[in-house]
Amino acid sequence: GLPARVRIHEVGARDGLQNEKATVPAEVKAEFIRRLAATGLTTIEATSFVHPKWVPQLADAEQLFPAVADLPVDLPVLVPNERGLDRALALGARRVAVFASATESFAKANLNRTVDEALAMFEPVVARAKDADGVHVRGYLSMCFGDPWEGAVPVEQVVKVCRALLDMGCDELSLGDTIGVATPGHVSALLAALAQAGVPVSALGVHFHDTYGQALSNTYAALRHGVTTVDASAGGLGGCPYAKSATGNLATEDLVWMLRGLGIDTGVDLGSLVATSVWMAAHLGRPSPSRTVRALAGS
Ligand code: HMG
Ligand code: MG
Repeated sequence: GLPARVRIHEVGARDGLQNEKATVPAEVKAEFIRRLAATGLTTIEATSFVHPKWVPQLADAEQLFPAVADLPVDLPVLVPNERGLDRALALGARRVAVFASATESFAKANLNRTVDEALAMFEPVVARAKDADGVHVRGYLSMCFGDPWEGAVPVEQVVKVCRALLDMGCDELSLGDTIGVATPGHVSALLAALAQAGVPVSALGVHFHDTYGQALSNTYAALRHGVTTVDASAGGLGGCPYAKSATGNLATEDLVWMLRGLGIDTGVDLGSLVATSVWMAAHLGRPSPSRTVRALAGS
């Protein structure tokens, strides 16, 4: 069966804009997030409190977050370490996300740490978030399927890091196909292995990049396993500055189009979402890669 409702975790303002060559002004980002909130999206990842030299595109987090904090939506932010958590909590963030890797190569490239060192870095972040009046913590896990340096990633390796993130207190996990190489059979195999390991499917979200055009098929496979949280990026913006060959995320419009056809409720108005992505594309100076945006934008 399929779920009756799916919660979309919108990542365009973070995963999308972190990868833009040109820096988008904070006012434009804030307007983007306001427009996304007006479409009915309820979870809109706003930015990252990471080292500004590592991700200069999001160096304006202190300016951006207060500019959108009044919106009646959840605004999760990425925090790699206690320094990032301090910055986020100082601005009143109520949802944070740590981001682990299933592979050593990406842990090194993205966090300058081994997998275990990164987990050790997250432990006090999660503990302190819980102490801070129960701030919600998402644990991202990158390279769950394939890694540009290591190739195919064994399922057991992924299950192990998932367990570690849940055991340290993460409220939910997001399984990342950072470079977009997953296919539906692999998605099913990983979700079956996680269920076998006692990980409740209600704690799992999926995060697909669309490099090989498989993101929607992979999402469908995940829905069949009972997943109800799906990450997507308005207009298909995205990539990862520390993962060569990562292209855009699953486009939120493509996701909404499929879910609408399946009779699955998202609460999102597709027309205003398309209009938002067209507006953002004009700012970025190139058309959205989303097929659904292209199909609907002219109509
Ligand atoms: P490091 O160089 O090892 O940092 O980087 P450090 O801990 O040695 O500290 C060095 C300096 O950085 C210190 O300053 C710290 O204070 C400062 P100094 O004493 O030299 O003046 N510093 C900070 N400043 C501001 N904010 C902070 C912070 N932390 C340290 N939070 C670090 C380690 C984790 C900081 C760095 O590697 C980093 O910022 N990485 C972030 C990379 C990133 O954001 N990647 C993209 C997001 S992940 C993704 O896109 C995948 C995802 O979408 C899922 C998927 O698709 O798979 C989520
Ligand atoms: Mg990503």
